[in-house]
Amino acid sequence: MPSSKLDAIREAGPAILPSLLQCDFGDLRTEVQRLTEAGSSILHLDVMDGHFVPNLTYGMPIVEGLRRHTDLPLDVHLMIQDPLTYAPAFVDAGADMVTFHVEAVKDPATAITNIRNLGVGVGLAVNPDTPFDGILQNAGDVDMVLVMSVNAGFGGQAFNPIALDRIAELRSAFPDLLIEIDGGIKVDTIGQARSAGCDLFVVGSAIFGQDDYAAAIGQLESAMLSATSQGAS
Ligand code: DX5
Ligand code: ZN
Repeated sequence: MPSSKLDAIREAGPAILPSLLQCDFGDLRTEVQRLTEAGSSILHLDVMDGHFVPNLTYGMPIVEGLRRHTDLPLDVHLMIQDPLTYAPAFVDAGADMVTFHVEAVKDPATAITNIRNLGVGVGLAVNPDTPFDGILQNAGDVDMVLVMSVNAGFGGQAFNPIALDRIAELRSAFPDLLIEIDGGIKVDTIGQARSAGCDLFVVGSAIFGQDDYAAAIGQLESAMLSATSQGAS
């Protein structure tokens, strides 16, 4: 039994994480209930500030509201220009894993330490167009690496296969690292990501574009589980 929500995230893989971006924000409590009944074990929250990405979503009040209505671990993806300023408020709001973009900070190592000192999991994210060396230099110091398979900002984009090579490279260099992929994950891409060694699979439109969330997650899960993975247990 995981001793904390962070341990639950660490131990959940392989797992599908619904991303709260294209859900019905007008009825969020029902959405969370439906996702929980559909078997979700973690929720991925897409926070965007309209500066780091050309889209604006939500902030701490929504995280706080979700915290009050679910016990599921909250995996908060900060697509914001100034993650260090806002990380403490997202932790206070109930985040269990705080993932920031390597593109958004000058000194990733210091940022990692600052967020770890808040007592939550630390994730480091990278867009497909960003050179990978900043990730490789810091992967040993984080709880999770989020390998984007789309450029952050919007759901419904096409899958960029560069993420597969990056996941395989991370898996071979860091056998125990928690690896998450995000963007364009569907039944025809999730197996490739699993085979490359990914643990956590963030999914938006392939779930929220369907009426039956349980059926959508079930199809994704069988595609994920039928693929063998390199290195991951
Ligand atoms: C994009 C977000 C993703 C997105 C995934 O910036 O980080 O989580 O919601 O949506 P799909 O699965 O539709 O690509
Ligand atoms: Zn995301």
